[in-house]
Amino acid sequence: MPRTIGILTAGGDSPGLNAAIRAVGKAAASAYGMHLIGFRDGFRGLMENRFIRLGPEDLAGILDRGGTILGTSRARVHKMDVGNGSPMDMRPMMRRNVEHHQLEALVCLGGGGTIKNALRLADVGIPVLTLPKTIDNDVYGTDTTFGYDTAVNIATEAIDRLHSTAHSHHRIVVVELMGHNTGWLALGSGLASGADVILIPEIPYSIDAVADKILHRKSAGSPFSIVAVAEGALSIPDADEYQRLCAAKDDADGDDRVQLKTKIADFESHQSRSTERLAEELEERTGLESRVTILGHVQRGGTPSPADRNLATRLGVAAADFIADGVTGVMVAVRGEAVEAVDLKEVAGKRRAVPLDHPMVHSARQLGISLGD
Ligand code: F6P
Repeated sequence: MPRTIGILTAGGDSPGLNAAIRAVGKAAASAYGMHLIGFRDGFRGLMENRFIRLGPEDLAGILDRGGTILGTSRARVHKMDVGNGSPMDMRPMMRRNVEHHQLEALVCLGGGGTIKNALRLADVGIPVLTLPKTIDNDVYGTDTTFGYDTAVNIATEAIDRLHSTAHSHHRIVVVELMGHNTGWLALGSGLASGADVILIPEIPYSIDAVADKILHRKSAGSPFSIVAVAEGALSIPDADEYQRLCAAKDDADGDDRVQLKTKIADFESHQSRSTERLAEELEERTGLESRVTILGHVQRGGTPSPADRNLATRLGVAAADFIADGVTGVMVAVRGEAVEAVDLKEVAGKRRAVPLDHPMVHSARQLGISLGD
């Protein structure tokens, strides 16, 4: 039996996934004579042993394709919904499938959730590696993730287009960007498109400060503004309440903990409503009409940028090299000019937020962009 590598894509899809699959498969075959098989729909396909062989013909023509040819899911390995109402630990079945295919390693392409799942698989003896992908750019332990650059490009183009209509109608346009609980995407695209206000989860905002900025622009002869808001951004009172709930959850157990978790999830899922509220309040306080645009999944779709294709390719080739050297239990990370293997234990369960002294934050402040504080 030829030496075989398994691969799967998990979590939200992200431009560059197919470029990474192609790179792992091509490098494995041409440099090491190994075969690649891909499991469908993330960890669920691994559990159900739904797989396809990824030969040269399957890997051709996918470098520039968006999404993932394998499909994806957000299934969790230790608490998988198997249709009987009680989530189950399906790792033993996954380990059997890995053994059945005699996999040298399983490469999992994903973000924070995937890293946690991969570590759980490593804990039961499955040789795993992860590659950091997400448009959110929030994976701890790597300088960046593939998908982010493409999403910044898409969001920047969208905000550029909103600019001209906001200008023509003398309106406030509040544009909501993805990014989960970090502000990388809002900050990157807001800065690139010359937004007037950028609101990110790392900096709770005051509506007064945002309104003041817009009024100041109005009185200086610019009666329109672009407000780029990250989906996870919170006003100061909301951020206080969120912190309170999180702290209370950490101290609680049993039913109380379950209830607090539900409240927190509810809080997190109401972000677009808070964007609507923000736009309404700004309209009231400034006398300018406002409109909301929620960019949503368009930020994740379509062709990856050249930078993301190259990053995914570098990481995919490095994964094949590490596997050939017998290195597993790691995330393949970008660190400066280098690609390094970082122990999954060091990165699982952590998130890379925007540091408050990041050069993009500094640039925004120096340009007079309001960050809402
Ligand atoms: O993690 C990627 C991401 O697009 C986040 O920015 C966003 O919060 C989330 O996924 C959306 O998830 P779903 O596709 O399940 O709606």
